[in-house]
Amino acid sequence: MIGRLNHVAIAVRDIEKAARTYRETLGAEVSDAVPQPEHGVTTVFIMLPNTKIELLEPLGADSPIAKFLERNPDGGMHHICYEVDDIIAARDKLKAQGARVLGTGEPRIGAHGKPVLFLHPKDFFGTLVEIEQA
Ligand code: CO
Repeated sequence: MIGRLNHVAIAVRDIEKAARTYRETLGAEVSDAVPQPEHGVTTVFIMLPNTKIELLEPLGADSPIAKFLERNPDGGMHHICYEVDDIIAARDKLKAQGARVLGTGEPRIGAHGKPVLFLHPKDFFGTLVEIEQA
């Protein structure tokens, strides 16, 4: 069911510093920072030959990554995103097999303008999983 690895997301406290480290120390191609108030984060994308890294910095008072950064003050891997061909079919199959879909269970438009859903980390070995319509 799952296809390509779309991105790995890393939560950071200082996105400009993180972007600079990826650009200068690691020599990666790095996008500008984009505030996404509807998602409570600012994002930067690191373009790799085979996938992307998504840097996330909290934005606003109730950012969905604020608690994660309280638990992980140095930042850390927040989620991985797999592509699926049909997000509704994927959701229904996952639910039928007992996986917990977070939120309302209805896909939301994610940071890349495509429908996404998040799956409970306890069902996937401690890793928050995002699925995105390819
Ligand atoms: Co993501």
